[in-house]
Amino acid sequence: MRYSASVVLMLLALGVVSCSKPAATPAAPAPAPAADVKKVLEETCTQCHKLTRIQEYKGSEDWAAIVDRMINVNGAKVTPEQVPQFVAYLEKTFPKK
Ligand code: HEC
Repeated sequence: MRYSASVVLMLLALGVVSCSKPAATPAAPAPAPAADVKKVLEETCTQCHKLTRIQEYKGSEDWAAIVDRMINVNGAKVTPEQVPQFVAYLEKTFPKK
């Protein structure tokens, strides 16, 4: 009983230490402001088809899967940093159902 209580305390202490650390670490490069993401996405994603293709997309595929297909199948030039920004923007602007 004494043993397990001190193990629990130790784990709690470790938990507090390891949880507080990432919060203190400054986030990597700040994400581009929403307006910029919109502009860059509209330039990047209209090279092969119109923006309406995106605005009118009614399918069930996740935006992450679509962006991935545009890059890996269709050859869209999107940097790895832009992928999460585009996906977040698309999910917010054209939410599924
Ligand atoms: C290099 C050319 C190219 C670029 C750049 C491109 N696409 Fe596409 N896109 C295509 C082609 C080709 C299709 C039709 C075939 C398909 O659905 O994969 C398509 C179709 C789509 C569709 C319709 C999919 C469906 O199932 O009806 C969506 C939505 C879409 N693109 C979104 C995007 C987004 C978002 C971007 C920017 C990240 C983008 N596209 C950039 C070539 C491109």
